[in-house]
Amino acid sequence: MCKIARVAAALIRVLYLVAVAAPAKSLVAVARVAFSLVNAPCLRYMNQAARGRSCTGNFCGDLLVGAMAHSWRMLVQGLTSLMFLCARADEYVRPPPSPLVLMAHDKPASHPQQVHISVVGANSMRISWVTDDRSAPSVVEYGTSPGKYTASGTGNHTTYHYFLYKSGAIHHATIGPLDPSTSYYYRCSKAGDEFTLRTPPATLPIEFVVIGDLGQTGWTASTLSHIGGGGDYDMLLLPGDLSYADTRQPLWDSFGRLVQPLASARPWMVTEGNHEIETLPVVDLAPFAAYNARWRMPREESGSPSNLFYSLDAAGGAAHVVMLGSYAAFGEGSEQHRWLEMDLARVDRRRTPWLIVLLHAPWYNTNQAHQGEGERMRLAMERMLYEAQVDVVFAGHVHAYERFTRIYDNEADSRGPMYITIGDGGNREGLALRFIKDHKSAHLSEFREASFGHGRLRIVNETTAVWTWHRNDDDYATVRDEVWLHSLAAAKRQTTGRRHVNEL
Ligand SMILES: [Fe+2]
Repeated sequence: MCKIARVAAALIRVLYLVAVAAPAKSLVAVARVAFSLVNAPCLRYMNQAARGRSCTGNFCGDLLVGAMAHSWRMLVQGLTSLMFLCARADEYVRPPPSPLVLMAHDKPASHPQQVHISVVGANSMRISWVTDDRSAPSVVEYGTSPGKYTASGTGNHTTYHYFLYKSGAIHHATIGPLDPSTSYYYRCSKAGDEFTLRTPPATLPIEFVVIGDLGQTGWTASTLSHIGGGGDYDMLLLPGDLSYADTRQPLWDSFGRLVQPLASARPWMVTEGNHEIETLPVVDLAPFAAYNARWRMPREESGSPSNLFYSLDAAGGAAHVVMLGSYAAFGEGSEQHRWLEMDLARVDRRRTPWLIVLLHAPWYNTNQAHQGEGERMRLAMERMLYEAQVDVVFAGHVHAYERFTRIYDNEADSRGPMYITIGDGGNREGLALRFIKDHKSAHLSEFREASFGHGRLRIVNETTAVWTWHRNDDDYATVRDEVWLHSLAAAKRQTTGRRHVNEL
């Protein structure tokens, strides 16, 4: 394996240098002709070939996605990806996945695509979209009636390079102030389709959809369809692993188009997973290049120094949502650790009865997959969450559903957060089927099942919320798990109040 890796590394270096430095345009022309010849059959067999986590499957997938993007450069990237996956071939073996669902952009280059929205502060919304035309304006026109735009917001655009891929223009523009619980109609770059969004409510109740490890397979499509475009929820929370592009940048574009019907209508608040890192063992590429450029979150508004961890208020401050970064430094003295300390200290639990945390690698997990990967972060941060009386911690990463009781430091504790793993959105790697029966945390695990699906947290009022898990493989969205939660802060206030009355 070492020898193969060394040969592959040398080959990649040569190809990379040729690709970057070779002045011969003829080389490009030859490659383009070669790819144009295989493009049509590649497109035809794309869904069949882009299966599995096997090295050959991913390598073929790279070639085919490259052909789809009309980019000979993806060949070099594919070789790199092949080596990357070889190094991980001894990891957990997963069941066969569902084929990729690839979405093409068949409209003019100036038309917006991959539209998604995210909350910014108390009453504004960031609109993000991509145009292949890099001169398209970063403007959003909007109003409360279809086709009647009474206001506009102007932002800017960025692009990024990944290896030899160059993105389209990635626009971000903030609109507001907006009224709560109100539908707005909007258009991006003064071209293309009109979109509709509904702003979250300014008071409780509020309903969050939670999905992790989404990907872009038939399972993903099923999850999105179960969530529904009708929008009987207010905000979507995603604890990492979005596109599973895994270095194949056109898959980020395809993912953006797949989720657009939902992500353009309700705010999608995300944090990063390991599949967003996209570094490679040979070539020096900045981590999170695609993720940070495409999925900009409200870090400035929450005083965070990084797009990889931030927080937001919902329902007029009745709920505070903290998005942590499992793949940013989290140890004591790190920026994230300091920021979390400051962010939690600012939460006034008399005004904010609900405190919710999301992160990618679970701290508690009885599945065979990814055992112990969240342990270092747990040791560094669990006490802070416990002392702040966090109500619930959502994680992804493990491709299954698991709900624990309230826990602190590996013991059941009624003052600790409830832990829920919801990494079953529908990615190409398949499900993590094996739970460990005699795991040391098994007695803390109250429900576990390896099926794709999504969850909903409906905060009814300042004391009560209900969590439901909806499994995909039912024809209709069926609730497989349900639990009622009581706010830890509200419970403490009631206890303190009763004690005060008794003392009087
Ligand atoms: Fe993951």
